[in-house]
Amino acid sequence: MDWGMKNRLNQVIQPDGRCFFMAIDHGYFQGPTTNLEKPGKTVTPLLPHVDALFVTRGVLRNCINPQHTKPIILRVSGGTSMAGGDLANEILTTSIDEIIRLNASAVGLSVFIGSDYENQTLANLSTLVNECEDHGIPVMAVTAVGREMEKREARYLALCCRICAELGARVVKTYWCEKDFDKVVKGCPVPVVIAGGPKCETETEVLSFVHDGLQQGAIGVNLGRNVWQSKHPVAMAKALNALIHQKLSVKDALHVFNESKTAEPTVLV
Ligand code: R5P
Repeated sequence: MDWGMKNRLNQVIQPDGRCFFMAIDHGYFQGPTTNLEKPGKTVTPLLPHVDALFVTRGVLRNCINPQHTKPIILRVSGGTSMAGGDLANEILTTSIDEIIRLNASAVGLSVFIGSDYENQTLANLSTLVNECEDHGIPVMAVTAVGREMEKREARYLALCCRICAELGARVVKTYWCEKDFDKVVKGCPVPVVIAGGPKCETETEVLSFVHDGLQQGAIGVNLGRNVWQSKHPVAMAKALNALIHQKLSVKDALHVFNESKTAEPTVLV
């Protein structure tokens, strides 16, 4: 592996082999998501506790201060919306020149395997890998399901992750599933990162699925709503960081959350 590729992977994956990416790319198809209306304001207090930011070029340019940001994983697929027909009909939105200009440490795009746009989105992945590998930029493939959340079971996720790795993704982001998540990870020859999904009812629920996923071989998370839609986002980010990097138990991470939240003003969602 070339020095540039190694270096960029080391920017986003920490020396312990783990990672905590924070996703704030939701607006690319959802518009101004709750608590992400002003992304810069939302993320500023969270940045010290995360390893990288998953973000589109528009929000990066307009809302993130280039003086104090973390490594950037640029979201480079899109072209659909919640108001449109099919969320899977994505294209590549961002040129390789723009990816380099914005100094991205990595890029991310969604693939929709099993959808009407399977071939198109896998072609997007292949094109992106071809361009990014030339410049030593890692590609993170996101196994997306659009509105079909029931698809998130091990056999399907294992199929998706393996295909993404075979096409050249350096990292794959996929959903955690209750049964056989270890088989998803074992079948994928590149590191697997857990996606979040809609906000859970409790902090324990979030910490538990992340802990379980890590135990079963995931290297970290790419979470959004379960952090910045929490009533205590900084406390949640601290607890997740400790769970991931200090390898705390769920109980101890929850203790970190409870200790931290007393020092943090409540955010009304
Ligand atoms: C899909 O890739 C989305 O754009 C988000 O990056 C992803 O779903 C993670 O965010 P959340 O934890 O809110 O689901």
